[in-house]
Amino acid sequence: MKKIAVFASGNGSNFQVIAEEFPVEFVFSDHRDAYVLERAEKLSVLSYAFELKEFENKADYEAALVELLQEHQIDLVCLAGYMKIVGPTLLGTYEGRIINIHPAYLPEFPGAHGIEDAWNAGVAESGVTIHWVDSGVDTGKVIKQVRVPRLADDTIESFEERIHATEYQLYPQVLESLGVARR
Ligand code: GRF
Repeated sequence: MKKIAVFASGNGSNFQVIAEEFPVEFVFSDHRDAYVLERAEKLSVLSYAFELKEFENKADYEAALVELLQEHQIDLVCLAGYMKIVGPTLLGTYEGRIINIHPAYLPEFPGAHGIEDAWNAGVAESGVTIHWVDSGVDTGKVIKQVRVPRLADDTIESFEERIHATEYQLYPQVLESLGVARR
């Protein structure tokens, strides 16, 4: 059975959807006060949290992550709102086994503000993408992506809500397509 870990930095709504549908070995947060940790506790999912600033450098921080992943024999790392660029230490060991969800139709609107950037550009449609992680920012090979329209009476909030609702559909679909067994 494929074992998954989820990395999230903040809210963790995608983590919650994943954990409700699939067994999650552990969730990691790079912020000790992230709300995702409360979600993990409620769902009885093992969690770890430590911060980059607690280490000498990013290589040491990522070495600690690699150790955790190896200790738990993780097959697939699912980034879901993990707000750090994956560096060479983690990528060196796990490239090809890390996926990310992005709230836009890549290569359109990469980066940390995919929803706002699409909204501000006045697009008729944006989307959601799940892709393999490489050393770039949201540049890895696309696994699956879907379009999300911007409707005439949308506000940025309703547009954002529709994007998130699409994310909650797409992540489970992609995990299943990658051979992760549901609960
Ligand atoms: C999602 O929109 C995801 O696509 C992006 O960050 C957001 C995380 O939301 N990378 P949440 O923490 O899962 O609620």
